[in-house]
Amino acid sequence: MGVYREIRPGVFSVGVIDWDRRLFDELIPLPDGTSYNAYVVQGSERTALIDTADPPFAQALLDNLETLGLDRLDYVVTNHAEQDHSGSIPAILERFPAAKVVCTPRCRELLEEHLEIPAEKFETVKDREFLSLGEKTLEFFYTPWVHWPETMSTYLREEEILFPCDFFGFHYATSDLFADQRTIYEPAKRYYAEIMMPFRKIIQKNLEIVDSLSIKMIAPSHGPLHSEPSFIIEAYRDWSSDDVKNEVVVPFVSMHGSTELMVDHLVNALIARGIGVKRFDIAASDVGKMAEALVDAATLVLGACTILGGPHPNAAHVAFLANALRPKTRFASIIGSYGWGGKTVKVIQDTIPLLKVEMIEPVLAKGLPTEEDYLALDRLADEILKKHKELGIA
Ligand code: FEO
Repeated sequence: MGVYREIRPGVFSVGVIDWDRRLFDELIPLPDGTSYNAYVVQGSERTALIDTADPPFAQALLDNLETLGLDRLDYVVTNHAEQDHSGSIPAILERFPAAKVVCTPRCRELLEEHLEIPAEKFETVKDREFLSLGEKTLEFFYTPWVHWPETMSTYLREEEILFPCDFFGFHYATSDLFADQRTIYEPAKRYYAEIMMPFRKIIQKNLEIVDSLSIKMIAPSHGPLHSEPSFIIEAYRDWSSDDVKNEVVVPFVSMHGSTELMVDHLVNALIARGIGVKRFDIAASDVGKMAEALVDAATLVLGACTILGGPHPNAAHVAFLANALRPKTRFASIIGSYGWGGKTVKVIQDTIPLLKVEMIEPVLAKGLPTEEDYLALDRLADEILKKHKELGIA
């Protein structure tokens, strides 16, 4: 037996909840599971399905449509080609062979490549084109790079509902149809950090499109719906803005404790100067939490011990990831202990070319940190405070 919920007259939530998923892209931890939301919009003349579900959930989606009593489908609106939303299109087309896939031309290319959907199944749409379902009208807005190049958002004009797929979504399995603002801020920020942050500047432009619409509800394709859209829109405006906070993120790896001694000294020195700190022992930390911390911190200090002539691979992994996520971090430094030599600083610096940061003099200690090393860490904390004051955030 399937399940569906009516959101508004003729508009139904028919997606599936993936309570058990704990990893996405073989990289991103999902502590709260996720959902693959899909929506049916029934007009007086035609019916559309907006987005589908991850392939293992194709049957569950079909069951939901059957429970709804859907016996005719004209369109499968596909906002985004990634398989967690498009992967069940072949199963849907098998069940409803007359349905057309409605998407951007770029999305069509990706769907042909990834899912081998035949050319005659597509009906591509231009930016701001609309599709009448009878007394309901779908309007399509190109919102690229949230988070693939082909993404668009669909707007149900009469009900003022925006269906933006990943944009404004987040991984959160819940039976609640609507988002509780007390619980969603953190998972939504984490999701932004993991997949949206590299496209911060384009998101600013996409927010202008969102601002131009009258929106009563946002129905994303992960997590619960936003019945008060301004909450998530303003959160995105804040995260994607150029503003940074008086915070330092300190991910570190320490093999024998020397680098950890340096990290703890620096953390206390920063706290004593009124600077917020987020400290992560990389080996024991969730990479999503680290990414989230980078959304608005002004400074990143990577604690890396040296092994095999370079940074510990766990530190290199975090540097690589930070470079790919391109946070708006303004300053960076490196601290750590080494045994007899190595190129830790150079390797890390070469790993983060996309971070537009000003490097602050690293502090490296040979073996256990000495009094002189601790003084150097105090000077590093002073320098970070000075930089934050120059930005007007400390
Ligand atoms: Fe939820 Fe980009 O897929």
